[in-house]
Amino acid sequence: MEVRAEFGKFYDVEADALVVTIYQGEKADDGALKELDERTGGIVSEMLGSDEMRGKQGDMVFIHRPGNLRAGRLLLVGAGKREEFSLDTIRKVAGSAARFLRGKGVRSMAVLRRSQLDIGKSAQSAVEGVLLGLFEPDMYKTENKEERRIAELVLVAAAAGSENELAKGVERGRIIGEAVNLARELSNEPSSTLTPSELAERAKETASKFGLDIDVLDEARMKELGMGALLGVARGSDEPAKLVLLRYTADETDPNVIAIVGKGITFDSGGISIKPAEGMEKMKYDMSGAAATLAAMRAIAQLKPKVNVIGVMPTTENMPSGRAYKPGDVLRAMSGKTIEVINTDAEGRLILADAISYARKLGATKIIDLATLTGAVSIALGTINVAILGNNQAFTDEVREAAREVGERFWELPMDDDYREMIKSDIADIKNSAGRYAGTITAAHFLREFADDTPWVHLDIAGTAWENERKPYMAKGPTGVAIRTLINYVCNHASKN
Ligand code: BES
Ligand code: MN
Ligand code: ZN
Repeated sequence: MEVRAEFGKFYDVEADALVVTIYQGEKADDGALKELDERTGGIVSEMLGSDEMRGKQGDMVFIHRPGNLRAGRLLLVGAGKREEFSLDTIRKVAGSAARFLRGKGVRSMAVLRRSQLDIGKSAQSAVEGVLLGLFEPDMYKTENKEERRIAELVLVAAAAGSENELAKGVERGRIIGEAVNLARELSNEPSSTLTPSELAERAKETASKFGLDIDVLDEARMKELGMGALLGVARGSDEPAKLVLLRYTADETDPNVIAIVGKGITFDSGGISIKPAEGMEKMKYDMSGAAATLAAMRAIAQLKPKVNVIGVMPTTENMPSGRAYKPGDVLRAMSGKTIEVINTDAEGRLILADAISYARKLGATKIIDLATLTGAVSIALGTINVAILGNNQAFTDEVREAAREVGERFWELPMDDDYREMIKSDIADIKNSAGRYAGTITAAHFLREFADDTPWVHLDIAGTAWENERKPYMAKGPTGVAIRTLINYVCNHASKN
């Protein structure tokens, strides 16, 4: 999609449709709305006085040949209460408008800037909203596939003078929106095509295209490194495991390195502790943490913040077979810790254990891991909030703040030492499952053992990485959650140095 900014009068903009936001209860009595009302022969004031357009989020009125405008059609969209209007509202409104207009066959849309929010950030949010809104998970449809495209997006602002900020915002929005959609595409891909080897191939393509260093470890190298936890999970699968390392170096003399570590289970059958059939097809998205890692690294390579970042993606299938690891087995992790396997379905923490150790070995001074780790997080927080847990309150707070800034909802769960008791094993150092109680927290405690004294934050995205309900601004399916937060955290961190 072509995205451009235009300064000037909204009625001069050439586009198939012009989008104008309406606040709740607003009348067309001054400013741009008054002008719009006059140019459209009173249609706007008539609409705003009717029940069809009260300005509530989701309200939409579509008008053909709206009088004296160059744009062929006018879309009024409700933006909710003016005092609650935020960058997130922009993202949602832009996404809803884009989805609606595509459905009407519109090829070019223009969006009028009306709020007083920061112009660069507003533009960024609008572009993100449109790109995220237009994503469809229908890549394998041969019929009824959404083939209509919005080819052009124009952002219209009345006052000149901030061309640079606007252009930068547009570019950031495009980079971030495209990165998030890359991750959504990967999460949506069936495990028969997106094997661990294929995920590593995609990472190589991204790395060479965007200038990241990459190293793909095969099982022999994992063995040399003593990655017994990751290799234990991989044993049941005929597909060889891979560990992908991506590296973005801004300053070789800076000893600080942020590591992003993402769970890359391309299919989670549960292994010998096999999952019920119902819903198992969704376990193709159990690599959403790794996809988020790749997406964030790609955006970071384009945005070029002054901070060193590595991405670590341990990837394998979790399958039952005659060679599979079994309940009761004891695995030796790269850190030297021994792990009693209680449940082979608690595999995510095993592969992350070795990936976290590897990140530390490579010099990570801060670690953020993200994973579709527990069903328990959906019970606690549903599809609304990502669970965040960590071993360093200041770091956890920074990541929470980064999430808040980009409109992603994170909720912190407690890490009391008492929960640590629950993962004690009789035969080994720790066990991989403590059962149903506090499942998200005990999983985090397991990971904490491997982060050791490195500041570490864990994001459980099992509930939020897949949306089962269609939203006006978003298709159902993979969401690409947490990627915008990761990028924002890294960029915030860079500006502080
Ligand atoms: N990948 C699953 C978690 C999951 C469940 C993600 C549902 C998305 C939707 C993870 O590997 C898993 O199976 N976790 C177990 C852990 C238990 C055995 C301790 C779970 O949550 O049931
Ligand atoms: Mn599992
Ligand atoms: Zn899993």
